[in-house]
Amino acid sequence: MTDTSSDVADVLRFHERLEARNRILNPLSEAKLDLLGRICVPGEGARVLDLASGKGEMLCRWARDLGVRGTGVDLSPVFVADARARAEETGVAARVEFVEQDATSYEAGAGSFDVVSCLGATWIGSGLAGTLELMAPALAEGGTMLVGEVFWHGEPSQGALEAHGMARGDYADLAGTVERIAAAGFETVEAVLASPDDWDRYMGPQWWAGHAWLRANPGHPDEEAMRAFLRRGHDAYLRFGRAEMGWGVFVLRR
Ligand SMILES: C[S@@+](CC[C@H](N)C(=O)[O-])C[C@H]1O[C@@H](n2cnc3c(N)ncnc32)[C@H](O)[C@@H]1O
Repeated sequence: MTDTSSDVADVLRFHERLEARNRILNPLSEAKLDLLGRICVPGEGARVLDLASGKGEMLCRWARDLGVRGTGVDLSPVFVADARARAEETGVAARVEFVEQDATSYEAGAGSFDVVSCLGATWIGSGLAGTLELMAPALAEGGTMLVGEVFWHGEPSQGALEAHGMARGDYADLAGTVERIAAAGFETVEAVLASPDDWDRYMGPQWWAGHAWLRANPGHPDEEAMRAFLRRGHDAYLRFGRAEMGWGVFVLRR
């Protein structure tokens, strides 16, 4: 997907509104986020770097429940403010920090994190391989990387590609995704995948929030663009995404 910088700013702003009712900005339930922590956090005091950390739910939960220390990096001031508030609310503000920055320019100390993650934002490295390359320097010897990625349940229809603004080849099927990970030098040692219900629980609150925003902001300069964005997303999911698109977190070792 190629975007001008104003398109990117629009999409980010629209997403900030649509995600108003979600804590996890991906089709992953709280229970699966907890499961992921039990799978990959090596123990109390483990250091976690989360690129594109959104509202910080993963780091806050893992700090509260598993005793990790963490850094989240995200471009959105709205999401970073929510993440800091969530850290206060969960009592972990001394263990996690949230940095408002483009993750591609964040300089983490080499080898200084036991877990390095990027859940649902592989465009930051222009795709899966580039994002793994971006994440890898921060990983400590023997550490674990987590990448959240879209995959197709089979060969995507032309309608699905057009509705999601994707090119054939931007994403692979599940086995193909694991092959791409292997080609980038990593082994997939575990995976936690979204169910159809996880997807519905991710998308439904976005529709609610989008319609609530439109009702609360009649005459706003964004009104028509926001309505069209909401409608396109709704349509793409119901016609194609729900049947054809998967999402999962892949747990990787070098
Ligand atoms: C689909 S959300 C996932 C958020 C979070 N990982 C989660 O699972 O809740 C994508 C996130 O990427 C952030 N983002 C997009 N481009 C970014 C960049 N270049 N650097 C840092 N964050 C970015 C957005 O602000 C958003 O929070």
